[in-house]
Amino acid sequence: MTIVSPSVLSCDFGNIQRDVEMLNTSSAEWIHIDVMDGVFVPNISFGFPVLSAIRRHTSKVLDVHLMISNPDAYLTDFCNSGANIVTVHYEACTHLHRTLSEIKRLGMKAGVALNPHSPISVLQDIITEVDLVLIMSVNPGFGGQNFISSTVEKVVQLKELINLKNSKALIEVDGGVNLETGKLLVQAGADALVAGSFVFSSSSPTDTIQSLCELK
Ligand code: DX5
Ligand code: ZN
Repeated sequence: MTIVSPSVLSCDFGNIQRDVEMLNTSSAEWIHIDVMDGVFVPNISFGFPVLSAIRRHTSKVLDVHLMISNPDAYLTDFCNSGANIVTVHYEACTHLHRTLSEIKRLGMKAGVALNPHSPISVLQDIITEVDLVLIMSVNPGFGGQNFISSTVEKVVQLKELINLKNSKALIEVDGGVNLETGKLLVQAGADALVAGSFVFSSSSPTDTIQSLCELK
């Protein structure tokens, strides 16, 4: 079964509790939380109060994707707000090893995200330290963008690196995921798929999540 992490960026913000309760009834194992600061990406989403509110309504794994500059300053706050996985961007971290160590010291799983322009090779000296690699298949900042097709080859390359280094890192892909792109990604080696607009704009989000889970 593929892990599906629906992104609440595409939910109805006037009805977050309702939408999280819908996700609770679905086969999604994780819930993806997109935090944007208007500096690292050209958009602002939400922060700690919203994360805490979601935490109050679910026991699912909260998969927090930080699209922010200087994530080190906020790791304790994300932990206290209920994050289970914290993923920072390679492009935002000068001392990535230190940042990942701190996430793990706080008791959370540590992820690294790569923008579309960053090659897999930048991970070769850190891959054994990470629990998760999040490959961006769109430029981060907005939901509903088109999938960048060269991402499929990056997943293949990452899988090779993980096997070569005996890493336990999971491969997650984020952006433009639907049943068609999701199938290509799972066949290339992806363990987890983020899906925002595809899930929340569908007529039955729980059925859509189930279909994504069944991709193989
Ligand atoms: C983009 C975010 C994504 C976004 C995905 O910056 O990181 O998680 O919510 O949305 P879709 O699935 O609509 O591309
Ligand atoms: Zn994301």
